[in-house]
Amino acid sequence: MGNSAMKPAFGTVTGLMQDIARIGADKHRGGYSRPVFSGAETELRSWFSEQAGRRGLDVYTDVNGIMWAWWDTSIGIRRDAVVTGSHLDSVPGGGAYDGPLGVASALIAIDILKSRGIRPRRPLAIAVFPEEEGSRFGVACLGSRLLTGAIDPNKVRNLKDVDGNTYADVAAANGQDPRFIGADLSALNQLGLFIELHIEQGRGLFDLDQPVAIGSSILGHGRWKLSVYGQGNHAGTTLMSDRHDPMIAAAKILVGIRDAATKYRDARATVGRLQPIPGGTNVIASRVDMWVDVRHPKDEITASLVESIHLNARLIAAEEGCNIAFDVESLSPTVHFNTSLREQLKGLIPAAPILNTGAGHDAGVLASHIPTAMLFVRNPTGISHSPEEQIEDADSEAGALCLADALSGLIGRARHIG
Ligand code: GLV
Ligand code: MN
Ligand code: MN
Repeated sequence: MGNSAMKPAFGTVTGLMQDIARIGADKHRGGYSRPVFSGAETELRSWFSEQAGRRGLDVYTDVNGIMWAWWDTSIGIRRDAVVTGSHLDSVPGGGAYDGPLGVASALIAIDILKSRGIRPRRPLAIAVFPEEEGSRFGVACLGSRLLTGAIDPNKVRNLKDVDGNTYADVAAANGQDPRFIGADLSALNQLGLFIELHIEQGRGLFDLDQPVAIGSSILGHGRWKLSVYGQGNHAGTTLMSDRHDPMIAAAKILVGIRDAATKYRDARATVGRLQPIPGGTNVIASRVDMWVDVRHPKDEITASLVESIHLNARLIAAEEGCNIAFDVESLSPTVHFNTSLREQLKGLIPAAPILNTGAGHDAGVLASHIPTAMLFVRNPTGISHSPEEQIEDADSEAGALCLADALSGLIGRARHIG
């Protein structure tokens, strides 16, 4: 048998991932930086549109910037749809797979279904959600929050990126009318269930020696912005005893956050971003902004941990002659995925173990409206939100195959063509 005879009759996830491997590659940080509405993210959206179009899917972008690609059925009614997909934006300097793997796998799953001669009776669509990471405007899962009405569109219009541009202005400059963002019941009412395939962001599958898992729950998490206000001054002329330096307070607060989180089993607290203002080597900062990410399976524990972080920060700031402001940016409760959908998936992919995740996903936001589920694909490093995120080619294809098996089971009695 020649090489070409051994190739599948459809593309591969690996091939699609290679197509986009240069888009948004970040020479400075390493990995990928693909913030929402950036050139890189726009290029990825065009790529998706082109790939979905090639497969005969009907592609459009809705008022909230969510891309939908519909595989139309003979019935022609978009209701009770089986939807899969993920996101294309990334954290700064992120890995290649967080988000795009779910989108590429969805496209290949459709190829697999077609190669099996299946034409769905139940509508099937791929969704691509914008600003899942919240890397640009601070709120995670912004697209799915807007769709479901989980966030006030007025608040979203006024969100600012690091350069002070509002969401409304950036959206308008990118062809989206910000007046129309918000809860979209007509879109939501079309959906029957959502299943998101994602790279595993831990080593569960590696340890179990399995390529694909079914998700059980998402850890509750939130983000807070903590600003420490001090007195900006000259590094050479201000005596140590005369300073109100917010950097010193910020450093002590940071250590306090780690110590507070360590007291709770299963808690995670992170400061991954800190910005002194104005930020000069010979300048005592006038303000320091830091962003705090806190997670725990029990929402009441997240709340009390955050309360203790807040109180501690206020005390430390006062000791340094500084003040603080502490504001929530986004909050997501712990989500347990729909048990009957999970059982259905277990029947369709019996070898897959059940795993939970500490990472947030649009599937978690949609879970309060429709049954949702997730599939995780093995990541041998267990590392994510880093260029070291990794997947073996064979596992990517195994993931798409499992997704295709899941979708073909979920679309019910499928009509075979040909
Ligand atoms: C998104 O990946 C998150 O968990 O913050
Ligand atoms: Mn992520
Ligand atoms: Mn993700």
